[in-house]
Amino acid sequence: MNFQLDAYDIAYSDLGQEILHKVGQDIYGEYVGQLSWMTIEEYRRFIARLAPTPESHVLEIGSGNGAAAVYLSTTTKARVTGLDNNESGLRLATALAKSKGLEGRVDFRFGDAARPLPFKDNSFDAVFANDTFSLIPERPTLLRECHRVLRPNGRLLFTDPMVLVGLVTSEEIAVRTWAGASCLTPVGENERMLEASGFEVVSCEDLTESVVLVARRQASAFEKYRDDIVNNLGQEAYDGLTSSTGMAQTLADQKRMIRVAYLARKAVTR
Ligand SMILES: C[S@@+](CC[C@H](N)C(=O)[O-])C[C@H]1O[C@@H](n2cnc3c(N)ncnc32)[C@H](O)[C@@H]1O
Repeated sequence: MNFQLDAYDIAYSDLGQEILHKVGQDIYGEYVGQLSWMTIEEYRRFIARLAPTPESHVLEIGSGNGAAAVYLSTTTKARVTGLDNNESGLRLATALAKSKGLEGRVDFRFGDAARPLPFKDNSFDAVFANDTFSLIPERPTLLRECHRVLRPNGRLLFTDPMVLVGLVTSEEIAVRTWAGASCLTPVGENERMLEASGFEVVSCEDLTESVVLVARRQASAFEKYRDDIVNNLGQEAYDGLTSSTGMAQTLADQKRMIRVAYLARKAVTR
């Protein structure tokens, strides 16, 4: 069984979205539909660093229900293309863009980011991926693909919530990765892979505090809506969700597993 796709299938089902909309406000305060560790303050900072203009074309990898892509286009007027391998997420995303009157500015494609990206060379001004690269062990290929599809001087910003800086047991990893197959990254490896792919690393920001904050709020929200979640998704899902969130908080709090945002630039070759 592919647990990763099952978890996203649940999240992107009508029921999953209904529950997420109930808990979203409690977890993020300002909730735009994200399904990650990303707070809206953080997202505004990411967008400022990518600096898209109305003439820019941005690619979001792991666009899920389309909320982040729609927010980006609404706030900057940039054109955005989202790529995801979850059909239910793509359906939600397409419907969301349509409901906001953004057809033509925001579009979504089915695709596996572990494989060559279905876009021409030098097509995008920026590539963004939030909490998605940790789901893709083929990251060297993915980074080379991001480099290929970016225009010279184009920017890549991605977060990795699974950077390993301390000792973590196999049991802790199993609980933490309950929601799906993931790839843990030794500290320093993303920078090395970025440079090996032709990127210049501009900045690395430690965002572990967001995991602590969001996980703590998630725990309270799950408790508050316990009956709803158990009745709709089952006890096993409730237990898995709460244990995995608790483990994320512990590992982040103790700085054994950190979340980092990497900003890189496609250097111009002479
Ligand atoms: C943590 S969610 C992030 C969703 C959204 N970007 C956000 O910030 O809320 C990760 C997304 O990556 C997608 N994903 C996972 N593996 C993928 C792959 N190999 N190719 C494309 N998308 C993938 C999942 O379907 C999911 O929508």
